[in-house]
Amino acid sequence: MTAARREDEVMELARRRGFIWAAFEIYGGASGFFDYGPLGAALKRKIESLWREFYTLGEGFYEIETTTIGIRDVFDASGHLECFMDKMVECKKCHSLFRADHVGERCPDCGGEFSEPQDFNLMFKTRIGAVTSVGGKSEAYLRPETAQGMFVNFPRLLRFHRNKLPFGIIQIGRAYRNEISPRQGIIRLREFTLAEAEVFVLPHEKNKHPRFHEVEDVVMRLKPNYMDEEIEITVKEAVERKIIAHEYLGYHMARVQQFLEKIGIPVERLRFRQHEHDEMAHYAEDCWDAEFLSDRFGWVEIVGIADRGDYDLSAHSRKAKVDMSVPVVTGGEEAEGAREGNENLSVFPHVIEPSYGIDRIIYALLESSFYKEEVRGEVRRVLRFKRCVAPVEVAVLPLLNRKELVNKAKEVFQMIRSHGIFAEYDASGSIGRRYRRQDEIGTPYCVTIDYETLENDTVTIRDRDSMKQVRVSIAELPAKLRGDVESMFTFSR
Ligand code: GLY
Repeated sequence: MTAARREDEVMELARRRGFIWAAFEIYGGASGFFDYGPLGAALKRKIESLWREFYTLGEGFYEIETTTIGIRDVFDASGHLECFMDKMVECKKCHSLFRADHVGERCPDCGGEFSEPQDFNLMFKTRIGAVTSVGGKSEAYLRPETAQGMFVNFPRLLRFHRNKLPFGIIQIGRAYRNEISPRQGIIRLREFTLAEAEVFVLPHEKNKHPRFHEVEDVVMRLKPNYMDEEIEITVKEAVERKIIAHEYLGYHMARVQQFLEKIGIPVERLRFRQHEHDEMAHYAEDCWDAEFLSDRFGWVEIVGIADRGDYDLSAHSRKAKVDMSVPVVTGGEEAEGAREGNENLSVFPHVIEPSYGIDRIIYALLESSFYKEEVRGEVRRVLRFKRCVAPVEVAVLPLLNRKELVNKAKEVFQMIRSHGIFAEYDASGSIGRRYRRQDEIGTPYCVTIDYETLENDTVTIRDRDSMKQVRVSIAELPAKLRGDVESMFTFSR
């Protein structure tokens, strides 16, 4: 199957089964905008919940929720007004617009000549309240990243943490970028979901992460900006050899890889690529992208892990005239070095930022989970989601649409849901068709009610991937479904 066709098939399935729809479809759509249908929204919520858990329970970070509209001052200070630009060219013949770095010398649509490249700011501008005759204060922007909400609240967050560093803050929410000419489906959106963690740490403590030992043996595929080839290396060695600048960056890169693996992104389709110096965002000292190898788009950034240094806190301190530096109070030689005779020295904390593009992760999951095979002359399409992200965990199916089976199946369906397991009931069409449908939406297990059920209160559980079935009693069904269902099939294989 060619890469393009496979991608078409995945997206066709995603549309047909209610994962992802073009926004405003009845009006012809608008590029860069997509909606999530019922299964897409369920998948997204599960990924977001796992992400939230990973950072709150796993790292002890608190989550906050800040506005999606920001006043001008914020983006003036952050540098987004001046620097958050792409170069744009316009075809002189058909007037199509393109990102200058995405095209050659001639318009790909009509072969026309391009205008000189111009800077285009990617933020959506809006206004707060009525407009005064001199503009000014009413100017506002839809946030291009959630991060700024965490930086401008830093003084309060520091107090909340009893003035102790390091600490981390997370936020999940919509961000907006007015992309010049998005043509890559949900890979390049104008409105999208970011899940970001901002870790505030004293600069001289960046090379000692208290939990580094937990991840030091994680093997990662790295593409440093000064090397032509990729290397596979443990995080420990990468930090020791200064391929990764310090433990904080290495620790968070390893955690990113662990999270992506946990939700089902295959590690063999992952690498970490360090940005070139001229590619880095205006605020970054160093940046590594976790990239997914897509059949359709090649390597695609799905998470960026940046060392933002003190860029943001010092910029907001200057603009708002609120000092966000903190006294250097920790001991140790490096702190002594930082103090150098000045007992009152204060420094701006540095920020390490893992920033996840949730929509791209969803695309990566759809593409890498998609699997197709021929079974008895029929095509079977499967989304091999891990159970932790599958929108529907269990389907309950009466073997035939007969009253006695339907009644029993509905009973079992209610019982499973009452145990907190998200289940779907389906009685329409042949059992084979219903299995295929559940395979297509990635449901790991189907519970089937047949005539034997009526005799001895047992049902079958069918495993999506092996298509094998095991029979269990209804009484033990919730425990089996909640527990280690997989091992039942490993045993029976
Ligand atoms: N905060 C990460 C980004 O703006 O891409």
